[in-house]
Amino acid sequence: MTVVRIKDLGSHSQQTVVIRGWVVTTRSSGKIAFLVQRDGSGEVQAVFLKKDVPQEVWERFQSLTQETSVEVTGVVRPDDRAPGGYELTATGLTVLGTSEDYPLTPKEHGTTFLFQNRHLWLRNRRQVAIAKVRHEVVQALRDFFYDHDFVLVDTPILTGAIGEEAGNLFATEYFDLGQAYLAQTGQLYGEAAAAALGKIYCFGPTFRAEKSKTRRHLTEFWMLEPEVAFNDSDDNMRLQEEMVTDVVKRVLERCREELEQLERNLEPLRAVDLPFPRVSYTEAVELLRGLGSDIEWGRDLGGDDETLLAQQYDRPVMVYNYPKGIKAFYMKVNPEDPRTVLCNDMLAPEGYGEIIGGSQREDDYDTLLERINAQGLDPESYRWYLDLRRYGTFVHAGFGLGIERFVAWICGMPHIRESIAFPRQIHRLYP
Ligand code: 4AD
Ligand code: MG
Repeated sequence: MTVVRIKDLGSHSQQTVVIRGWVVTTRSSGKIAFLVQRDGSGEVQAVFLKKDVPQEVWERFQSLTQETSVEVTGVVRPDDRAPGGYELTATGLTVLGTSEDYPLTPKEHGTTFLFQNRHLWLRNRRQVAIAKVRHEVVQALRDFFYDHDFVLVDTPILTGAIGEEAGNLFATEYFDLGQAYLAQTGQLYGEAAAAALGKIYCFGPTFRAEKSKTRRHLTEFWMLEPEVAFNDSDDNMRLQEEMVTDVVKRVLERCREELEQLERNLEPLRAVDLPFPRVSYTEAVELLRGLGSDIEWGRDLGGDDETLLAQQYDRPVMVYNYPKGIKAFYMKVNPEDPRTVLCNDMLAPEGYGEIIGGSQREDDYDTLLERINAQGLDPESYRWYLDLRRYGTFVHAGFGLGIERFVAWICGMPHIRESIAFPRQIHRLYP
């Protein structure tokens, strides 16, 4: 007997197949019984007719509970009313694993309870849809960079130098070498690799001991970071908008069912197209003040400012050249206005805020050393990074895309914690 995944039933019409999965719901009357089963690829309804199935199969059906794992044998029948277009006329049923008192009933549960049961909640239709969108997003990104001739370089997670800022580091003792930090970014290593390979990206988990409990922050999140030799800040922004447009279009094309399951309003996603609006930080401050914000030049945009600003556009907006004082040490000082650096954030629409942070990198040895010292960082641990400015320095730029924020926006979820299978937050380390 052929074991088939539910999504492939279409190519087995009228054949007898076996499906392995879990019970979603059951319903039965005296003569006929229905089992909705899921296997990760989809859901299908199996119909049991009392007069046609062996007595023990009929009895076994009566013992089924939510999330029992089962093996169902049956004949595949096309059915226009069925969600996947097919139904199963069951002939056999085996219980693989019983499931008593499954904690997540079809009724509403509170968020805390759901996250305590995240290992089970993952089976929920909505959660499955989110996982599939994330999978498509990541694959689309990898394909985008592969097609654009970027080389994937994996960067270390245990690092000796601070990548972004001292304020939110996870540190651990590292043998006789003192402290090691969990990577906040792969960027510095990406820059070294860009001098070897020209165009690279790294993609991996990054860590920040964020004390803030906002809907945009996790302590462990995945970041994709391209780095390109001879790109300036302008090229950098162009790459960002091309990448985001490409991925959103592909998700719209291939994740129709998932977005429908999530009841995502598709209009904001359909609006994503080149070019994205660009405003300088200075313009953004003026604009925001005009809209009632009390922001002052020199201060970082708060979450509310980002939301307000993004509301002025129908697609993601890029804010460029922030004040030097609120950005990382490695950003290149703007030669036309040394109070600012050549950088940009991309703000997603609909209140999702910053999904990308990027910049042209400081490529002058002395200026970089000065900035490392000015920020109280130890120049000794950046010796290798400074070397990149000693041996064939080069204009280069790159950015980091936070996968969870990107996925949360695409899925239209209020909080980013559902866009990763097992979120890590200040108060959450289990399961
Ligand atoms: O703006 P960030 O801090 O930039 C960097 O780390 C650079 N080194 C990237 C680069 O130029 N290669 O972070 C980049 C993105 C943010 O825009 C956001 O999407 C995400 O990473 N991010 C977070 N996502 C979830 N939780 C957090 N605590 C995050 N912090 C940043
Ligand atoms: Mg940032």
